Amino acid sequence: MLTVAVLISGTGSNLRALLEATAAPAFPARVVVVGADREAEGFAHAEAFGIPTFLVAYEQFDSRDEWGGELLEQLAVWKPDLVVLSGMMRVLPPAVVAAWSPRLINTHPAFLPEYPGAHGVRDALAAGATETGATVHIVDNGVDTGPILAQERVAVLPGDDAHRLHDRIKPVERRLLVDVVRRIATRELDLAAASAAALVLSQSRRDEASTPDRP
Ligand code: GRF
Repeated sequence: MLTVAVLISGTGSNLRALLEATAAPAFPARVVVVGADREAEGFAHAEAFGIPTFLVAYEQFDSRDEWGGELLEQLAVWKPDLVVLSGMMRVLPPAVVAAWSPRLINTHPAFLPEYPGAHGVRDALAAGATETGATVHIVDNGVDTGPILAQERVAVLPGDDAHRLHDRIKPVERRLLVDVVRRIATRELDLAAASAAALVLSQSRRDEASTPDRP
């Protein structure tokens, strides 16, 4: 049984989907703890499912690194097999990424590498995109740059504002997230291999870029 820690900042609708899916006896993963960087609304979902919570309040620390240190301590208490960033709106400090990646995944409301960052939905609209999407990826030290595990397109419709568009993206994110966690648990998806493959690919792209053209 794969044990999962979920980190949130907001309403926790992705968390809720994961809690509902993992409550089924046949599902091969369990959420063991939910953490947040602030008093998140989504804690209510954890409480409804009887899952313990922890708060590492970002504002109470002098630096991102110190906050990350406390987050690491909390995760060390629960020792999950996987950490899911599910609407956690903080960039994790390098020490957290080093300790947990590739067993650290994130959901993003755009078709990465398009529209990374905190405003993926708004940015797709501002760019006049006719389609955007949802992505689940391994977290690395960049902002939404890690190896992609699953993604799907979502159409931008006439009259969409950020709220409406995000409301159509979120169900796709939830489905992808639940499916990725299931595939990690059944070992259909090997995070170490996915991460290594992405490294090889980016190295070969760098090599290609630095090889002068031959006549
Ligand atoms: C999701 O779209 C997530 O990708 C983004 O913030 C949203 C969180 O939604 N970073 P919720 O808290 O799961 O409802």
